[in-house]
Parts: sequence; C-alpha cells; structure tokens
Amino acid sequence: MEHIVISGGKRLSGEIFVSGSKNAALPIIAAAVCCNDSCIIDNLPDIEDISFLVDALTKLGVKCEMLYKDTMKIDATDLTNYRADFESVRKIRASYYLLGALLGRFKRAEVDLPGGCNFGSRPIDLHIKGFEALGAKVVIEHGMVKAYADKLVGANIYLDIASVGATINIMLAAVYAKGITTIENAAREPHIVDTANFLNMLGAKIRGAGTDIIRITGVESLHGCEYTIIPDQIEAGTYMIASAITRGDLCVKDVIPKHMESVTAKLREMGCRVTEEESTLRVEANEPLSPVNVKAAAYPGFPTDLQPQMCTLLSTVKGVSTVTDTVFDNRFQYVNELIRFGANISVNGHTATVDGVNLTGARVTSIDLRAGVSLVLAGLAAEGDTVISNVQLIDRGYEHIEAKLKAVGACIQRKEE
Ligand code: UD1
Repeated sequence: MEHIVISGGKRLSGEIFVSGSKNAALPIIAAAVCCNDSCIIDNLPDIEDISFLVDALTKLGVKCEMLYKDTMKIDATDLTNYRADFESVRKIRASYYLLGALLGRFKRAEVDLPGGCNFGSRPIDLHIKGFEALGAKVVIEHGMVKAYADKLVGANIYLDIASVGATINIMLAAVYAKGITTIENAAREPHIVDTANFLNMLGAKIRGAGTDIIRITGVESLHGCEYTIIPDQIEAGTYMIASAITRGDLCVKDVIPKHMESVTAKLREMGCRVTEEESTLRVEANEPLSPVNVKAAAYPGFPTDLQPQMCTLLSTVKGVSTVTDTVFDNRFQYVNELIRFGANISVNGHTATVDGVNLTGARVTSIDLRAGVSLVLAGLAAEGDTVISNVQLIDRGYEHIEAKLKAVGACIQRKEE
C-alpha cells in the first residue's frame, strides 16, 4: 500500500503549475458522448477520476486515444450502447453525467448509481426531476438508474438547490430536446460555464451559463471540435493555501484569477499578500496571520471543496476562527484526523471552531479527496514527520502532487509500505 511521507516545516517558494480542471473535464468527457463525431480535448488532468471515466467510455464502446500527454481524442461516432454498469462507473460521482449524455443522445440510459466522496447523503433527485420534466421516465432498480423517453421536449425547470451536478446533467439531456429548456436557480460554477462552452463548440445552443438562468434551445445534431479545459480552481486554491500554511511565497501559475476571488479575499483578510499578474497568483505569507470566519457557499462564494484545506490553514493561525459549511451534511469528518496533528478544533453542527496552534507530525488516514489533501497541507506545516495512508483518494483529484510540491521546496515522497 502506498503512503505519502512528509518532513514538515519547510517554507514553500517558487512556481507551481495548475493542471486542467477535474470538475470541468469530467462533464466535458461525458458530453463528448452526445456527439456523433470525434472531439479533441486538451489540458486534461492526469488523475484517477479521469481514468475511471475514460475506462467507462471505452467499455461503452467509445474510442478514446491519448494524442499527447494531456490531449485526448474521443470518438463516439459508432456508439450504440446506452448501458454503463462497470466497476469504474461505481467509483466516481461524475459518472452520473453519462445519464444525461446518453439520455440526450439515445433517449435511453442505464447507469449504475455513482460513488465518489462520502460527506453525508448525496441524492440525485434533482437530476431525476429534471429528466422527468423533459419527458423521461426514470426508475432506480438494483443500484442502477434507468431513464427512457419516446422523445425529449424542452421544459421550465426550477432547481430547489443550485446543484452543480443537476445543472450540468439537465444541460446534457436538453441539448437534443425539442424546443427550449430553461433551468432556473442554476448553479454558476466555472466548470458549468466550461461545459456549456464545450457543448456550444459542438453546435449546441446554450445561453446564460454562469448566471442562475440557463436557456438551452434543442438542436438536431452536434459535430466534433477541439477544446481546451480551464485550469482547476480547487487545485489552484489548494496551492494558494499551501503557500499560506508554510508561510511561504508561491507563484501559482496557469490560473484564472477571477475564479479564485473568494480565496484571494480570505487570504488577504488573514494578512497574506496576494498579487495577480495575468494567469498567475502570487501568495506571500509571513507571521502573524489573523484568524477569520469562513462560510462555504455556491460559486462565487468560498468553495466547499476548499473548506477542509482552509480549516487546516486556520488550525495554524493563532486566535479563534470559524468555518461553516452547509453545502453538504457532513463535511467535517476530516477534523478527527487533523486533531492527530494537535489541531484544536471542535465541530458543532455545520460549524467548526478553530483555535490555532503549532502542528506536529502525525500518522493519519485520508478519508476523501479534499480531506486527504488537507492532511498533506497539515504535514507540510507540521514540525516533524507525517505519514498519510489511503493516498489513492488524493490521486483522484491531484496530478503529480508530490512532484509539484517537491519542486517548490517540500520534503515529500511516496513510499510503499
Ligand atoms: C459537485 C462537485 C463537488 C463539489 C460540489 C459542490 C463534481 C464531480 N463534483 O458535486 O466536488 O463539492 O459540486 O460544489 O463536479 N443535492 C440534492 N439533490 C440532488 C443534487 C444535489 O439534494 O439531486 C444537494 C447535495 O446533497 C448537496 C447540494 O445539493 O447538499 C450541492 O450538491 P451538488 O452541487 O449537486 O454537488 P455535486 O454535483 O454532487
């Protein structure tokens, strides 16, 4: 079994490069299935979640070929299969995008219920309501979601919660629906805009992505395209926080600064110097940093996917901070592992109260993707050695994390134990 071993207390400095966005790449790869042609997708991150989805596409009968290190050709021209019941589908959350893509293209889809990070119940009722509004009949049988329609017809859909997954999935299914579909209270995350841009490059007609009302006018057919995926907002935020937690000076390269505004604002409030230059954000941090209150919220709010990393940073900042996250039911399970570093955090419902201390190295277990990377951050800041197990969960979303951190001064390696 592999472990990450860190000898902490080193100040990070230099340039660190951000890969393509996981949460954009996943729906974009699924969206390629909508198209009866081939697409070339560039800036794909080399991470496990992408491998699982590509495996699922390949097993469905889609031709996926790496043309270059981060460029893939996806050809779904000959696809006839609409049933995805593979192990790889059950391993990731984003396999639910195959439902929308296959339903849109074939008017039928059968996909195993998705897996992914466990932070409380993660229903897909809003996805299903959306498909039903478009005219599909949806049933869940033996752990598989089955959706069928004679035809899909545009509809007005109001989402009770601005769900990222439901917004994208409805967009995917509605691309071929007759007439106009309107999604109200749509999520506004950058990966939604990126997926809509990709679909529009294929010939779809989607307007309003990035606002809370998205309008999709159904089209008869889509054609191939070449597309470059946006940088990963969460990986970028993680490295901005890595700079702050090591009181370092990192230039985080290949980012879209606009996507990082909520993180930049919080780091500045804490006393970090954040400077922006084209696609680079430089984060300089010196003692003393100030405690702050953070509330995770849908975009453009502070991302829930950076909440554990931010809480880890605050656990090293003298004084009392609070971190609130109501996006998911139970996203503080990682706190028990942080406490092994000596962190002083108590959780009450949706809020963690954090009293900053000096962390010391620990043996810890990663319980999900962002929790796992937070242990890496704690290990970087802690005095002494840290050993992290279950690192395959970190590999789901972070490309070459040890190599990237080592290049900016971290003492980090992967070991077989
Ligand atoms: C996506 C991201 C995940 C991120 C989350 C919030 C991917 C692959 N995953 O997850 O990294 O943490 O957005 O930014 O992009 N909900 C329902 N019913 C539904 C759907 C969602 O009640 O049908 C609830 C969820 O339980 C949660 C909230 O809505 O409380 C937001 O979830 P959602 O935005 O859908 O997250 P995901 O798409 O699962």
